[in-house]
Amino acid sequence: MVDVPVGPACSGEGKTFYLETFGCQMNVHDSEKVAGVLMARGYRPVDSHDGADIVLYNTCSIREKAAQKVFSRLGAFRKARNAERKIIGVLGCVAQQEGERFFERAPQVSLVCGSASYPRLPDLLAQIESGNRRVKGLDLDTEDCFETEFTRRDNRFRAYLTIIEGCDQRCAFCVVPMTRGPERSRSGLKIISECRRLVDAGYTEIQILGQIVNAWRDPSPAGWSFAELLSRIADVPGVRRVRFTTSHPRFFTPDIVQAIDSHPALCDQIHLPVQSGSTEILARMLRGYSREEYLEKIHCIRKARRVISLSTDIIAGFCGETAKDFEQTLSLLAEVEYDQVFAFKFSPRPNTVALGFADTVPEEEKARRLAELQEAQRRIQVRRNQALLGQRFEVLVEGYQHRLGQAVGRTTSNRVLNFPGEPVEIGCYRQVTVTSAGPHSLVGDRAESGH
Ligand code: 5AD
Repeated sequence: MVDVPVGPACSGEGKTFYLETFGCQMNVHDSEKVAGVLMARGYRPVDSHDGADIVLYNTCSIREKAAQKVFSRLGAFRKARNAERKIIGVLGCVAQQEGERFFERAPQVSLVCGSASYPRLPDLLAQIESGNRRVKGLDLDTEDCFETEFTRRDNRFRAYLTIIEGCDQRCAFCVVPMTRGPERSRSGLKIISECRRLVDAGYTEIQILGQIVNAWRDPSPAGWSFAELLSRIADVPGVRRVRFTTSHPRFFTPDIVQAIDSHPALCDQIHLPVQSGSTEILARMLRGYSREEYLEKIHCIRKARRVISLSTDIIAGFCGETAKDFEQTLSLLAEVEYDQVFAFKFSPRPNTVALGFADTVPEEEKARRLAELQEAQRRIQVRRNQALLGQRFEVLVEGYQHRLGQAVGRTTSNRVLNFPGEPVEIGCYRQVTVTSAGPHSLVGDRAESGH
């Protein structure tokens, strides 16, 4: 257990909060830090909004469907018991995007705060505590990262660690630069000391986060590169696994692959979103690379001494995507052979460049292309996973499925590999031999020791 530092002005003493998170790992980790700020002020977390004095939603606005979730939650919540006595706050990307309009659209909301303003959260909370019912943190012009004295981490073995916040790219489809503000990197030494604290607290896997994680540049005079930072994190005694997400192909350099090759603690997994296999569409998306340039990066990864697992993100049906462009994406999937693909239908977002383009692909056609992509990828995954039969992998046991009596393990290549195990093994590393393989996970048996 970590002691929560409760400051002299612990004004939340005796009060409770419920915090629900939507969206990416960055949001999940922001919520861990927000919870830490609240707990340091004396608030106590609860599992449902029923018993909470403060209800917070940390929102996602990457696609329209995600953005809608908070409004349906707020609608349902109006009918909840004692709803009028609770303080409701909206955090994250939809908060930033909607800003003060939230107070009009949902008058029960008292706090609207985007992630770039989280460093001001203690001050905003103090305003709420003093009775203000229209509190907002919507500035984007910050140079600060969200540093907290205490972070309430939800997982006992894998810890998130943010190294860079915000985004300075202007990909035509993407709302993130408008919701998370300008790019700002944390100093390398601060990152390493957080890493040491995490190991001391018992964490063995570190997941490094950033909207564009590999755009990180050490702002301190040490001036480390991203690859150097990865190596130094991997060298912290006690760190067994390091993952990083999300990389942008534009900033993906060969020294990252060299770092993975020479540090076993750096996981053999890279997530490199391509978005489309067509150079024309990539240009319209303002991604800053062609299909060929992207494939050169893949080639560099495939030449590594270790077998590095690859995953990607794809948008189906972006403005102006023709059947031929889409064929190019299918052929890219066949050429690269990813181990995992996250595919989405294009969804027009506020304040993005693409909002000025005609959204030419009909909704049904977007859905058809998405399904075709997913089916093509499913076949690739079945084939690639079947090829692992009989191979032995180290897994970190992340959970336990009582129904199946199976421990849920994860390989360093980020595959789920289940095996007959015990709940007490959660958090331990085990050797497992693959005995069967599906498209999304593997099943195995504990490898005999000494083999
Ligand atoms: N529509 C659909 N998908 C999107 N993504 C980002 N913006 C949009 C959008 N407007 C996808 C991209 C990105 C992932 C996190 O979400 O593929 O990499």
